[in-house]
This record gives sequence, structure tokens and C-alpha cells, in this order.
Amino acid sequence: MPEKQQSIHGIWRNRWTFIFAATGSAVGLGNIWKFPYIAGENGGGAFVLVYLACILAIGVPIMIAEILLGRHGQYSPITSMRRIAAQSNHSKAWVLLGWFGALAGFLILSYYSVVAGWALAYIPKLGFGEMSQVTPDVAKKIFEDLLANPLTLVGWHTVFILLTAMVVARGVNKGLEKAVTILMPMLFLLLVILLGYSMMSGNFQDGLDFLFTFDFNKLTWDSVLEAMGHAFFTLSLGMGAIMAYGAYMPKNISIINTSLTIAFFDTLVAIIAGLVIFPIVFANGLEPGEGPGLMFVSLPIAFGHMGFGAFFGVLFFILVTFAAWSSAISLIEPSVAWAVERFNTTRFKATFFVALLAWVLGLGSVLSFNHWENMSILDGRNIFATLDFLTTNIMLPLGGLLIALFVGWVLQEQITRKELSPKIMQIYQLWRWFLRLVAPVAVLIILTVGLLEAFPEQKIAFTRFILDVFPSLKGD
Ligand code: TRP
Repeated sequence: MPEKQQSIHGIWRNRWTFIFAATGSAVGLGNIWKFPYIAGENGGGAFVLVYLACILAIGVPIMIAEILLGRHGQYSPITSMRRIAAQSNHSKAWVLLGWFGALAGFLILSYYSVVAGWALAYIPKLGFGEMSQVTPDVAKKIFEDLLANPLTLVGWHTVFILLTAMVVARGVNKGLEKAVTILMPMLFLLLVILLGYSMMSGNFQDGLDFLFTFDFNKLTWDSVLEAMGHAFFTLSLGMGAIMAYGAYMPKNISIINTSLTIAFFDTLVAIIAGLVIFPIVFANGLEPGEGPGLMFVSLPIAFGHMGFGAFFGVLFFILVTFAAWSSAISLIEPSVAWAVERFNTTRFKATFFVALLAWVLGLGSVLSFNHWENMSILDGRNIFATLDFLTTNIMLPLGGLLIALFVGWVLQEQITRKELSPKIMQIYQLWRWFLRLVAPVAVLIILTVGLLEAFPEQKIAFTRFILDVFPSLKGD
């Protein structure tokens, strides 16, 4: 491989555009929508602590590995893996890692776009006062009505896919880079404005207590698993998005420092999002552990009862849209980059086809909230739930496991050393052992649990087996 940077897709102008892009990928619905509610359901503070440990012990080491792999490969994850395997005489099967990633991104995009569409739909709802002074029942009804109406959902889903395609079609420099350098600072600005609002008008002390008081009694094994899985999801790992972005990264940028920066920003956004949401929810006497309804029911009720609530509510849903948008472009980038390489076509055409396919598949998710709600694809799950489950619980951990094993055990060490050019050897060694041992074991646990969820009968047998082997666990 030539020493000079040669990615045919373009190259990030500097370290910060890469950080913005990767942070944009990482910061998404997961941070604003999912993190606060799973923290809510798992008791707050103690969960946050476990989550931080998972980010450092599993997330960051795998992120470093993924960026390194992308930068070494220089192409889309699929082509990169094919080239790397061929050059070093590794099994050709490693290309599956790339395929897996691109496929996962594509599948996630199809339903992510539908949920992002809800956020888009809420911008005018709050802006035109539809949610002002709503009672909980009415707020619930508004959300249910939205979900019951496939045409409206398709409309917003279409708008969101178009927004995403518009950016990706313009390429790395004119599209992705430009979008993230505008979106990310705006996102932080919105977040700070909303934090100010929550401090002034919300029940801030209760919010703080909730997120930072450690109540270890509420922490179960399930919470730990949830924290591990989420650390993975929130950093966009295991599926080539970060790998694709790594391919456009200049060679002189430190991968280790950059990964830590991205993990830091991602965590910061998740915690600030919690500090925006909980005080507002508490100030209105609502509950934190409401699951998905937290964002689309509880929060709109709260905004509807507060001074300037419509204005700040609109800002909030713009924030969510920006976060989802900058994630969506990295969901589709691996497939688009691959299509450009494979079919030697223009980015515009490649984007058009991939986006169209994702849009069509998204229709299945749209219908999962109404006409096809009760369809059962996988153990009672409809299309949306199946896609969500397969990608989050199976494909991402599997991808992450393969990446950790490949970079940790298969790839020649001189390559990892060259890409990381570590200044402090101890840190390099620490990373390597976390990648080789800690991350695979943790991910294997997540994956096993995920698989068992899919097959309830085997789960019962497996639980019995574990209890036979470790009888001391029974007291749980
Ligand atoms: N990290 C995103 C979030 O927190 C979700 C996500 C998972 C993602 N994998 C991804 C986004 C890959 C972009 C690319 O919402």
C-alpha cells in the first residue's frame, strides 16, 4: 500500500473535522432518547457509573481498533477488509466483517429514519402550540395518532432520508465535512441553551440527584448488560461507520487521543441530555422511567406547561433531528462508498440507490406501528422490533467482536504500531490487552444474552444449566 494518503473518496481537512464527523455519528438518538430512559429505568447514578466504565473498557479500545483498521485500509469497510486480508494472507472470510458492517448500517438507517421522522413531526406540533397545556392523556393520544397514521410517518421518513442523502451525495468534503462543521457546533449550542432553560425552569436539583446519586441496590445484572450494550451502540461501533470515517483520516492524527475525545464528547452529550430532560420532567411531576414515551409523551407534556415551552420544545426537537441526521450520514456512508468502488459509479447515483432501498425497507418499520403491528417475524417481534433487535443485539456486538479479534489477534502487530505510533508504550499495551481480552469477553456476553433473547426456549435451558454449574447465583 502506498504511503501517501490515497482514499478516493476524500480526506478530512483536519483533526477537528474528523472529531466532528465521528462525534456526529456517535451522538444520536441513542444519547438523547435512549440513554436518559435506560438510566431512568436502571436507577440513575449507579448505572451511569457502570456505563462510564463500559465506555472506557470496551468502547474506546474497539473504537481505536475500528479507526485504525479504516485508516490502514483506505477504502469502504468491505473493500478495506478484502485488501487487508489479501495483503497479509489472512483468510478471505474476514471480508464478511465489512459486509456485516455495511449491512447493519443500512438496516439501522431504515428504522432510525422512521424514528427521526417522529422528531421532525414534533417540531411543528410544538411550534404551533398543539402541545400547549396538554394533559397526559391528550399527549399520549397525539403520539398514538401519529403512529397510527402511515402516510404521515412515511412523509417524515421521506424528508429525513432526503436530508441524509443530500449530504452524502455531495461527498466527503462538500457533503459530510460541511454538514458536520455546521451541525455539531449548532448541536452543542442548542444543548447549552436547553441546559440553561432546564436549570432555570426545571427541577434541577432532583435531576442532578437522580443522575448522580449512587443507589447500588437498583443495579442488577441486566443493568450491567444494558450498560455494556449501550456503550457499544452509542459510540456507533461494530459496523464499519467509524471504520469508513477512519479511511478519510490523515495519517498524522493520533487515533488514541482522537478516540478518547470522541468518547468524551459523546458521554458529555448523553449526560447533558439527561440534565436537560430529567429536571423538566420532574418539575412537572412526571416519572423518569417511562421508556420510549419519555421523549415523545412526557417531555412534550412538560414543555406544554412551561413558560416559553413551545419555543424551547421546538429547539429540543431540532436538536434531536440534528443528532439523528449526523448519525444517519455515517450509517449510509459505508454502503455508498462501497457502491462507488464496486460499480465505479458516481457518488450521486450510489447514494440515490442505497437511500432508495433504505427508504423502501423503512416502509416496513412505518407499518409496524399500525397495520402490521402484530405481525410476528422473530418471536413476536414485528418488522421494526426485529430490525432493531437484530442490529443492536446481534449484529453490532458480533461486528465488534470480530473487529476486536481481528485487530487484537490476527492483524500483524507492526501495522497496529505504525497506525497508532504510540508515544507512551504502557498506554499502547493497556489498549492491546483490553482489546484482546476484556472487550471480546464482554461482547461475547452481550451477544450470548442477545441470542438467548431471540430463542426463549433455549434461554430457559441455558439458565438452568448455568444455575446447575453456579448454584450460588440462585439467590438473585
Ligand atoms: N450512535 C448512534 C446513537 O447513539 C446510533 C448508532 C449505532 C449509529 N450505530 C451507528 C449511528 C452507526 C451511526 C452509525 O444514536
